Amino acid sequence: MNEIKNKERREFLAKAAVAGVAIGAGTNLFGAANKPNIACKGWAAFDESGELKPWRFERRAVGDDDILIEVMATSICHSDIHTKLGHWGKQIYPQVPGHEIVGLVREVGKNVKNFKICDRAGVGCMVDNTDIATAGSEEQYSPNTIFTYGHPYPKEPTGISQGGYSDYFVVNSHFAIHIPNELSWDEAAPLMCAGITTYSPIMKYMKQGDNVAIIGIGGLGHLGIKIAIAKGAKVTAFTTTESKIKDIESWGAKAVLVRSSDDLAPFRAKFDFALSTIPYEFEMEPYIAMVKPFGSFTLVGMPINFSQKTQTLNLASTKVNLNASIIGGMKETAEMAEFCAKAGVRPNIVKITGEQINQAWRDVVAKRARYRFVIDPKSF
Ligand SMILES: NC(=O)c1ccc[n+]([C@@H]2O[C@H](COP(=O)([O-])OP(=O)(O)OC[C@H]3O[C@@H](n4cnc5c(N)ncnc54)[C@H](OP(=O)(O)O)[C@@H]3O)[C@@H](O)[C@H]2O)c1
Ligand SMILES: [Zn+2]
Repeated sequence: MNEIKNKERREFLAKAAVAGVAIGAGTNLFGAANKPNIACKGWAAFDESGELKPWRFERRAVGDDDILIEVMATSICHSDIHTKLGHWGKQIYPQVPGHEIVGLVREVGKNVKNFKICDRAGVGCMVDNTDIATAGSEEQYSPNTIFTYGHPYPKEPTGISQGGYSDYFVVNSHFAIHIPNELSWDEAAPLMCAGITTYSPIMKYMKQGDNVAIIGIGGLGHLGIKIAIAKGAKVTAFTTTESKIKDIESWGAKAVLVRSSDDLAPFRAKFDFALSTIPYEFEMEPYIAMVKPFGSFTLVGMPINFSQKTQTLNLASTKVNLNASIIGGMKETAEMAEFCAKAGVRPNIVKITGEQINQAWRDVVAKRARYRFVIDPKSF
């Protein structure tokens, strides 16, 4: 996957050089239909150090199919950190992270039918598709989908998509959803990635009354617990952090503190479905063995180089269906937001300013986030 991405990037850079696109310069003064580009204030990574700095840059002018969003809240996903640190391959910098973005629509392109000015909109991990007619209903698996940051994207003045740690955002309106009124901005932002990433496999592999294991209780995991319970599951949460146990119990799940694989042994063949959000490579076998024969084990955590070892004999003898999942399609994302709004599913959030982002990233890596940091773009 890395190699494919790198090859795409090389091809893009070659094409961009021929077309005279100024990568990283942000100097295209006029974009689509000779309208001015959008001047933005954001926070960006400039290298693989993981330190972000304030950055003024330009987004493309609002095209015929696009909407302009004034960002009201934008939250921190561990994927932001993996990407900028180069865990998933080499990046182009400066690069603005952030793919949990909500705000007010301030401008609509002339072809846009699904949004009007002042609507509440949300954007997740996808922003466009170069052949939208073929994208299907699970756009995340289309080879032509443009992901929200770091993706080669000739429409943007910087040559790559730039994420949501920013005061304004431009997106093809197909890749935005309506944010239900029941959700505050801060509650809605984390749903745009963490919410849909857990909702989608839960809907695919879990049924009401199932025994479900959620593994790794951070941004994704804590929403996974809440969504699975709201969908009628009996949930057991596996955490390596003792101080999370009270929170887990307050959401209605059973908590298990994992100090070694011995703590998993009592759960052999107990679960119909397990979902792992662990962001780094881990020993999977004792976790897989907790699932009943023919049950499903879904990985949504994405380790360094997307590399995760497993043992074929363990899979054969447990008969567990092992799979991995990436976010969810736009239709399902809208369904998820409606479901969370109506069912009372809300993330636990901590509100921060731009100046606090670097510390927040360190807190996420150290498992100190409780459970999603939401950034106030008015502080940029
Ligand atoms: N598939 C997708 O579409 C998709 C979408 C979004 C994110 N992701 C990926 O999902 C993963 C989780 O994202 P997130 O934002 O939820 O991260 P997060 O907030 O950091 O939560 C991950 C949790 O996993 C546990 N954990 C962390 N490091 C661990 C380690 N070395 N060994 C065992 N457990 C560990 C911790 O929970 P405890 O303290 O409870 O142990 C931690 O809070 C990341 O890899 C991210 O890139 C994938
Ligand atoms: Zn994410």
